[in-house]
Amino acid sequence: MSGLQTQQTQLADPIAPLRELVTGLTALVGATQDEARLLAEGRPLLARLLAQEDWLPEAFAAVRPDRYAQYLLHCDPLERFCVVSFVWGPGHGTPVHDHTVWGMVGILRGSERCEEYTLQAGQPVATGGQHLMQRGDIEAVSPRVGDWHRVSHAGGDAATVSIHVYGANIGAVRRHRLDATGATLPFVSGYDNTQLPNLWDRSAAVRATC
Ligand SMILES: [Fe+2]
Repeated sequence: MSGLQTQQTQLADPIAPLRELVTGLTALVGATQDEARLLAEGRPLLARLLAQEDWLPEAFAAVRPDRYAQYLLHCDPLERFCVVSFVWGPGHGTPVHDHTVWGMVGILRGSERCEEYTLQAGQPVATGGQHLMQRGDIEAVSPRVGDWHRVSHAGGDAATVSIHVYGANIGAVRRHRLDATGATLPFVSGYDNTQLPNLWDRSAAVRATC
């Protein structure tokens, strides 16, 4: 394919980078259930997506005025993984929470602050540490590698968008958060969207090669 054809295909099929992540992850979860391998081999797939611009449809990068938004981009039919966009406006942040499954958090736009927690006698306790995640950064979460944190928007007036991969249909997973008193409460996050992006209309790209 010529350079011009490649450019035309990208214009005709802007969602291709997300489809390629989904295809790669589908093959990966079919090949292994080993968490360490899933995280090691999933990371470069997510990194490739984060390195590309303009593939995320606007509706899935929309800021909510009241709190951060989480938009499901794809869920594996067997719920072995999902891909979610999180959109943070200035002042938005999560409660302290866990995930209960493996996951990867990658920054597509802007930056996030992550406050670190550790478990002591089964209770999440702030370490006092925090770190900034910026465009292209990826970190893993899971009960094995560290599962509790608090995440918030960082840096300026622009929205932050992060792309998350989890080893389940995360919006329907029973999880835990801390309330203002430090008590642990159950929660199920859900999603903010009722429709998914269309990953599968490859017709224009196919026509471009005819
Ligand atoms: Fe999280």
